[in-house]
Amino acid sequence: MGKEKLGIFTLSFLLILNLALGRFVVEKNNLKVTSPESIKGVYECAIGNFGVPQYGGTLVGTVVYPKSNQKACKSYTDFDISFKSKPGRLPTFVLIDRGDCYFTLKAWIAQQAGAAAILVADSKAEPLITMDTPEEEKSDADYLQNITIPSALITKSLGDSIKSALSGGDMVNMKLDWTESVPHPDERVEYELWTNSNDECGKKCDTQIDFLKNFKGAAQILEKGGHTQFTPHYITWYCPEAFTLSKQCKSQCINHGRYCAPDPEQDFTKGYDGKDVVVQNLRQACVYRVVNETGKPWIWWDYVTDFAIRCPMKEKKYTKECADGIIKSLGIDLKKVDKCIGDPEADVENPVLKAEQESQIGKGSRGDVTILPTLVVNNRQYRGKLEKGAVLKAMCSGFQESTEPAICLTEELETNECLENNGGCWQDKAANITACRDTFRGRLCECPTVQGVKFVGDGYTHCKASGALHCGINNGGCWRETRGVFTYSACVDDHSKDCKCPHGFKGDGVKNCEDVDECKEKTVCQCPDCKCKNTWGSYECSCNNGLLYMREHDTCIGSGKVGTTKLSWSFLWILIIGIGVAGLSGYAVYKYRIRSYMDAEIRGIMAQYMPLESQPLNTSGPHMDI
Ligand SMILES: *[C@@H]1O[C@H](CO)[C@@H](O)[C@H](O)[C@H]1NC(C)=O
Ligand SMILES: *[C@@H]1O[C@H](CO)[C@@H](O)[C@H](O)[C@H]1NC(C)=O
Ligand SMILES: *[C@@H]1O[C@H](CO)[C@@H](O)[C@H](O)[C@H]1NC(C)=O
Repeated sequence: MGKEKLGIFTLSFLLILNLALGRFVVEKNNLKVTSPESIKGVYECAIGNFGVPQYGGTLVGTVVYPKSNQKACKSYTDFDISFKSKPGRLPTFVLIDRGDCYFTLKAWIAQQAGAAAILVADSKAEPLITMDTPEEEKSDADYLQNITIPSALITKSLGDSIKSALSGGDMVNMKLDWTESVPHPDERVEYELWTNSNDECGKKCDTQIDFLKNFKGAAQILEKGGHTQFTPHYITWYCPEAFTLSKQCKSQCINHGRYCAPDPEQDFTKGYDGKDVVVQNLRQACVYRVVNETGKPWIWWDYVTDFAIRCPMKEKKYTKECADGIIKSLGIDLKKVDKCIGDPEADVENPVLKAEQESQIGKGSRGDVTILPTLVVNNRQYRGKLEKGAVLKAMCSGFQESTEPAICLTEELETNECLENNGGCWQDKAANITACRDTFRGRLCECPTVQGVKFVGDGYTHCKASGALHCGINNGGCWRETRGVFTYSACVDDHSKDCKCPHGFKGDGVKNCEDVDECKEKTVCQCPDCKCKNTWGSYECSCNNGLLYMREHDTCIGSGKVGTTKLSWSFLWILIIGIGVAGLSGYAVYKYRIRSYMDAEIRGIMAQYMPLESQPLNTSGPHMDI
């Protein structure tokens, strides 16, 4: 047993050596220190391979370096330390020293104490490294999947600068920026998933299978819609020539040592061998090629998830028979798949696996793939938890802005930044209307459209309802008040955007309209007999001595005795009499005319029957016959 183990280690060492010659790229994002002035600037940090980096977004926070437990290996409750930020304050980024325990444990402990992100300061001066989840079985603690805060490794020198600024009493604020972590050149995202059909490697394998199952739906929607082009990949190693005939290489490799995988349970004496894993991986790669040729590449997701469920190693079903059953049930051409796999015992190259080995080596910005599983989005390696929401966020940030498919704008991907302080956006609390919109790119302050009414404004300090229906919503953002049976509104129900205080009020029309005291302003009710009383939105005017107030003329009428009122009253009488006389005379003229006309008519008719001697009467001038 001991000897066997040694063999494995030797082989593993050799396999790793093959890769070590390549280039592993540390995925970085920007960290912008905004204060204090002395360390202001943009720095690089390495994204941890766990937690949820806010791909496509940013996170602003204030840095805290705890007085004790600076390596965050013990719970902060033991030290009575909490990083929960108070309402209205920036979230807390905890600065933690590297060492003594796993990066993941530090993140988990800080998250439980209320941190929004962790910055791990490297303990020695070196280029940035990628913080990963622990490999060992015993460390596969429950908490790994529960880490949601992003984590970043910073250099020792930046860590030292931050510490000295903090000890000098400065407040250190910074912004973590993932907006450029994934390139986003166009409306299609190309992504690769480097996986493995092995299901017996503990937590990492379980995570990978869970991810395939959970992500399948989204992946298929994206692929069918032409939004993405997905390619699965499989890592294999080759056996160094001197060892091709060794027992180890024979059990781990196919095609005479050309393509190898480590033993699934790291024990050559039991269970499945590495070569079984290579063949199943090859089968998955071939299934992809065959379905891709038919124009339905998304069937690969059905195949691999079905395979994980129906052909597990535990049940000893990790076989060709089991795999072929699934291939047939999905209507995939089995002959083509078999042809693609070829003969694993033959001393020949396999074109598919050869191509896979070649693409393992990093090209451009991607770097070598060494961590399994690895997701590559737009030729950048994804870092963070392999979980549907986190991955979708990264993929969505790979679309050119405003070309994201609908799936990217669903609630699942929201950042919840609107919950805190309304994201700094405009809101109308009373009407429950907000300009804060949660998207995977972080929050946007955009005036909303509510019940068909469009709000316009900058989204930060003001938004106002516009359009014909705008008074229906929150009174168009204008002032409105009811007192008793009276309601007044400053909203004008037409296309105008401005609020205008109604007649009888003055003010900005938005926050307030004040009643105008018409009596004090002496604009109405100025007649000597009038008594003015201001009311809300109007006034009352009454006249002394039983006179009647005429509102439209702002005057009192009745049998008055004095002053202008009487004068105007007499004038009115003269006017009425005048009109009467004019009317009467008009009538008289009318009557006379009718009569003359009638006379003329009758005469005319009669003239047809008898000769008339006299001249018509109407030529003899007017005569009054009333
Ligand atoms: C992690 O989350 C799961 C589900 O929310 C929960 O059941 C489990 O107890 C959590 N684990 C820890 C260590 O908090
Ligand atoms: C899958 O099909 C697409 C479109 O036909 C093609 O561009 C791509 O190269 C194919 N991928 C593989 C791995 O064959
Ligand atoms: C405000 O609106 C949101 C969604 O429209 C709703 O979930 C919430 O309960 C509302 N809040 C209040 C106080 O009405």
